[in-house]
Amino acid sequence: MSKLLVTGRQKLSGEVYVQGAKNSSLPILAATILTKGESVIFNCPNLSDIDASSRILRYLGCKVERSDHTIVVKSDDVCRSDIPDELMRKTRSSIVFLGAVLARTGRARLSFPGGCEIGLRPIDMHLKALRELGAEIKEKHGYLDCSAPYGLKGTKISLSFPSVGATEDIMIAACLASGTTTITNAAREPEIVDLADYLNKCGAKIYGAGEGVVMIDGVSSLNGTSHTIIPDRIVAATLMSCAASTGSHIMLRGVIGSQLESVIPVFEETGCTVKYKDGDMEFVSPKRLKTMKIVRTMPYPGVPTDAQAPLLAAACVADGTSVFVENIFENRYRHTSELVRMGAKIKTEGKIAVVEGVQSLYGASVEATDLRGAAALIVAGLCAESDTEISGIKYLERGYENFEIVLSSLGADIKKV
Ligand code: EPZ
Repeated sequence: MSKLLVTGRQKLSGEVYVQGAKNSSLPILAATILTKGESVIFNCPNLSDIDASSRILRYLGCKVERSDHTIVVKSDDVCRSDIPDELMRKTRSSIVFLGAVLARTGRARLSFPGGCEIGLRPIDMHLKALRELGAEIKEKHGYLDCSAPYGLKGTKISLSFPSVGATEDIMIAACLASGTTTITNAAREPEIVDLADYLNKCGAKIYGAGEGVVMIDGVSSLNGTSHTIIPDRIVAATLMSCAASTGSHIMLRGVIGSQLESVIPVFEETGCTVKYKDGDMEFVSPKRLKTMKIVRTMPYPGVPTDAQAPLLAAACVADGTSVFVENIFENRYRHTSELVRMGAKIKTEGKIAVVEGVQSLYGASVEATDLRGAAALIVAGLCAESDTEISGIKYLERGYENFEIVLSSLGADIKKV
């Protein structure tokens, strides 16, 4: 089982390109099932979650070829409508295949995606919306058996919470439904907009993606297209946290500043300066951060829940106390116990984490238990005295491509052992 060995107190410097967005690649790969012909997806990161999605596409009958950061999917011969348990369980986000398979084949049989390290991850909103679109869904023995023999029918859907996955599932399913679907209280994340851009290039008619109300006029068929995935705003926020915890000055290339407009003020509050233009961001951190004061995670355009763990890790060495409120997932503070092993002073109670900044952390042997928690341990390891050994890096590899190489290129002393 490989681990990461980080020697802290190394300043970072230089520049790095930010990888393509995992949470845009995954729904877009699922959406290729709707199309005839070939889709060429550029800037797709090399991640285990992406590999898991490619395996599902191949199982369903698609041809999938990857070369470097380009994935080519041919979906003329989709011939199955079931996804076996072992493939479903590889990544939580495979639930987004439900709407795609159902819309393409009229059936979908897949196992209930389990909960994961950060929460129960219910799919009630997905199922309610697909039923409103006319799907019959039976839930038994951990399996979902869905059918829409007469196709799906457009309708008005109102989400009780702006769920990213539910919005994506509905958008995908509604593309080939008859009539118009409106989603009220839709998620507004940039990954939703990227998915809509891809689908519209395939011939879909989606209006208002990125707004609270999205309208989809059903069409009879879609054709593959080429598409470049947007940069990963969470990887960008993680790199900013690495620079912030080490008092560094770095350049991030290929970021979209407007997607980080809720994260940048958090860093500016601590004394960091952030300048971006035409896709490049210059990030300068003071020697020691001031407190972040209070950070609340919210649906986009609020502070993303996925950035909470890296931000919290940087707050551990700030000069003052920072308060975090995790409003999206019920169990997303698991990294704090490992940070405490490194000398952090953190108290958590339900949604709240109170982080009392310390002068410095010390290296320890720590274990990652979820994707963004793994990133948080790296942020902490980079500023700790002595060495930190991080196990459980399979979680990291779900969302960060060659992260230790990226950080080494910025001067960090980090290696996989
Ligand atoms: C997506 O997950 C992302 N994953 C998550 O990123 C991200 O944290 C999350 O959106 C919020 O931004 C992908 O895009 C692959 P939700 P998703 O549906 O779609 C509850 C990462 O680290 N809910 O917006 O699952 C749910 O339990 C991952 O890259 C229901 O109750 O998130 C959660 O509390 C982690 N019923 C809240 O809504 C439902 O039917 C937000 O979930 C669906 C969701």
